[in-house]
Order: sequence, then structure tokens, then C-alpha cells
Amino acid sequence: MTSFLGHFHPLFVHLPIGILVVGLLFKAISLKSENPIYEAILPAVLLASFVSSVFSAGSGYLLSLSGGYEKDLLGYHQWAGIALTVLTGVLYFLVTKNKIKSLQNVFWIVSAGLLGITGHLGGSLTHGENFLSFSEEKYQKPVIVNLPEAKVYTEIIEPIFAEKCWSCHSAKKQKGGLRMDGKAFITKGGEDGAAFLAHQAAKSRIILRAQLNEKDEEHMPPAGKPQLTEKEIKLIAWWINEGADFNKKVKELKATAEIKSILANLSTPSISQAEPDVPKENIDAADEKVIALIKNEGVAIVPVAINSNYLLVNFNGRKVKETVWENLKKIGDNVVWLKAKNLTVGNGNLEVIQSMKNLCQLDLSGSDIKNEDLSKLAELKNLRVLNLNYTNVSLQGLEALKNLKSLRSIYLFSSKISKTDWPKLKAMFPKTQLDSGNYQVPTFEKDTLILKKEDLVSE
Ligand code: HEC
Repeated sequence: MTSFLGHFHPLFVHLPIGILVVGLLFKAISLKSENPIYEAILPAVLLASFVSSVFSAGSGYLLSLSGGYEKDLLGYHQWAGIALTVLTGVLYFLVTKNKIKSLQNVFWIVSAGLLGITGHLGGSLTHGENFLSFSEEKYQKPVIVNLPEAKVYTEIIEPIFAEKCWSCHSAKKQKGGLRMDGKAFITKGGEDGAAFLAHQAAKSRIILRAQLNEKDEEHMPPAGKPQLTEKEIKLIAWWINEGADFNKKVKELKATAEIKSILANLSTPSISQAEPDVPKENIDAADEKVIALIKNEGVAIVPVAINSNYLLVNFNGRKVKETVWENLKKIGDNVVWLKAKNLTVGNGNLEVIQSMKNLCQLDLSGSDIKNEDLSKLAELKNLRVLNLNYTNVSLQGLEALKNLKSLRSIYLFSSKISKTDWPKLKAMFPKTQLDSGNYQVPTFEKDTLILKKEDLVSE
């Protein structure tokens, strides 16, 4: 209930503002005009202003309880608002009793000033402190295309600072005297000195403050603001411990297995975060008998989710019999993920894959697929993830896939893409994440889980 009433604050505040502005206007006119009407109407206007101010102060207080506002700013806004309310009340009293005329005029002027201040602070609270500035440059978060070549500071660390720290530590504001939007500023530190000590994350203020309990006054970012994740803190600490260099690339820094896995996820967020790779509308179940026949040949074949008729098929890196392909063809529409690692292309098996019109994820890593075969995949309109790690495909072959609109990621580690081809490939697939790997090949967490269960059952 309180928060419900609090939400009316933005509505209420405009009343006293409007009424007081009218009062100020009449007051100004009354100084020049002979007409007594302007003077006479002032008590009524002041009373209306006072009453509506009380309402907006009350609703404002309730709104502030919901949190999420910056403490300092909120405090100033609140006290300015209360002062303004009291002032209009006193002014109403003086005007109706016709007392201390000279003081009345001072109060009118002060109320105008307070109105401006309260309003501006309120605007800053809701719209951010620079809501009146027009020249705001938007920070563009870089997209990591080739992880080992990515600049650690500009492509990994700075985006974190930009998102979680710059609102208070950049050109606009330097809380604690600290700016974090540039090498020179971060290196300079804040009022208390250095923000980080190269090679010593554990002694660096950035890390120390992030690790404090969120309730602690010194915790960064302050409570109620978007917080750093565990992984982000680890990445920043890694960067500091590796020397806090502003130019080095990922491949130039030593990384533990844990950091490598965090990094790998940075460049392939699509696997875990994007919509699941299953078509929205369900489909009729595939023939159980056919599924059983396929299973009998040692192929894992399971629903991608509970209550889903879509299937994940995994050859587990083994060569499968031709009958498996014949049976797969019968239930092709149900297959959405196909893991055909180490596939030997031939006997029409690519044609079977080609007919799987709902296929979303295809793993052909380590297969002997050739450039000229890739055109067969160009019909897979739902394909989102294509793993071609350890294959002989190159730029020429991949061109055939450039019209696949839903392709999100192509894995190309240890393929025949040369260094000079990468920029061309990027131009060819502007919206697709191209992964040259060098770190672990992402496994799709979900299916390893299902497969483990499956393994238990069959053993
Ligand atoms: C909502 C505003 C806000 C955000 C966002 C914010 N800070 Fe702060 N920060 C402050 C304020 C206010 C101070 C000064 C008060 C204090 O020392 O606690 C401060 C002080 C600091 C200091 C100490 C500076 C000195 O030398 O006194 C460091 C270090 C710091 N912040 C790091 C960060 C980091 C890192 C982030 C992002 C992960 C961050 N802050 C995000 C408000 C913020």
C-alpha cells in the first residue's frame, strides 16, 4: 500500500509546482497592477500550494522507502521539499494575517528558488543527474569476436566499469574524487589514493570495496545500485594481478582454468543466455519404434526438454551405421540438436541433415566436411549454432551460409580460416558470433546432463 501511494508522487509533485508558479506570477503582477484582484487571490493560491505540497511530500517519503535512489541526492531533495512546504505554509499565514510585508517578499523569492532546486533534484533522482545535459556520449560496449586477440582492458574490464561504475566515477561525477573512464584517471586514483595496485588485487581498493558486505557504507557499487557479479570481480582481480596493463591482449596474460572458462563465456554468451534452441511450437511425437532402433545402435537420443517432442541426437563421436541415417530421416523434423562429431561425410548422410528443417544446433567438429558440402547446410533456416571446429572449411565454403539469418554462432577453431580471412568473414556474417576458439570448446551444459542420465540407464 505504501509503495502504491508512493508511486503517485510524480503525479502529485506537479500540482504544488504549477500552483506556486501561478502564485508567483500573480504576486509579480500585483506589484505592478492597480487591480486588487491579484493581491486578493494570493491566500487561496498559497493554501492550495501548501496542501498539495504536504501531499507530495508525504507520497515522496513513501516512494523513498522503496529504495533505489542515491542517498545524498535523495536527502537534499527531501529537505528542499520539506523546506518549501513549510515556507509556503508560513507565507500563507503571513499573507492572510497581513503581517511583516517586507519579509513576505523575501519569502516569495526564496520559495521560487527552493522550487527550482527541489524540482531539479527530483528530476535528477528519476532521470539521472545529467538529465538536463544534451551532449551525452553513449558508451558502445565492444563485441568480442576473437577472444585471444581481444584487448583485456578495453574489451573486458572497461565495459564492466562503464556499466557498473561510470554513473558515479566518470566525467560527469567523481564520487570520492575518483574517475574511472580513462587510463590516466584510474591510475591517478581518488581522494584516498590509488584505486588499484598492479599485481596486488587483494590490496586494491576497487577489489576490496567490491568484496565488502553490501550493507557496508564503503561497499562499491553502493547498495541498491547494479552490483558486480562474482565473475566480474574475478576478471578485474585477474587483470590487476597480471599487472593492470591497459594494452595487453588476452593471449598475453596468464590465465587459470577458471578465468579461461569465464572468458570463454564472455565471447559466447549466446549459448547460455539466449533463447533456448528449440522451436516455439511443439510438434507431434516421433515414432517410438524408430527411436528405439536408433538407440539400439548406441546413439543417444533424448527429448531436449521435459514434455518436448523435439530431440537431441548425439553420436558421441562414433561412426554410425547407415540404418541409423535411414531411421533418422524418418524422424528428421523432430531433431533440433545433432551432434555428429567426427562424421565421415558420405552415403547421403549430409542430405539427411539437410532435410532436418527444424535443426537449431549442429556439431560437425572434427568431421571431414569440405567447402563444397557447406552449400547443403544453406537450407537449414533455423540453424543457430554451427560447430565446425577441426574441419577443413575455409572462407570460400562458408560464403554459402551467409544468408542463414538465424545463425548466432559459428565455431571455427582449428579450421582453415587464415588470419587475413577473419575480417572478411566478419563482414560476411555481421550478426553472427565467430569463434576461433583457442580456449575450450563450449559444451552445451544441458545436454551433457541429459546424456549422463541416459548413460546410467543404458549401463
Ligand atoms: C551510485 C554511485 C556509485 C557507483 C555506481 C559507484 N561508486 Fe564508488 N564511490 C561512490 C561514492 C559516493 C564514493 C565516495 C564515498 C566513499 O568513499 O565511500 C565512492 C568511492 C569509491 C572509491 C574510493 C575512492 C577514494 O579514493 O576515496 C572507490 C575505489 C570506488 N568508489 C570504486 C567503485 C567501483 C569499482 C565502482 C563500480 C564497480 C563504483 N565505485 C561504483 C559512489 C559510487
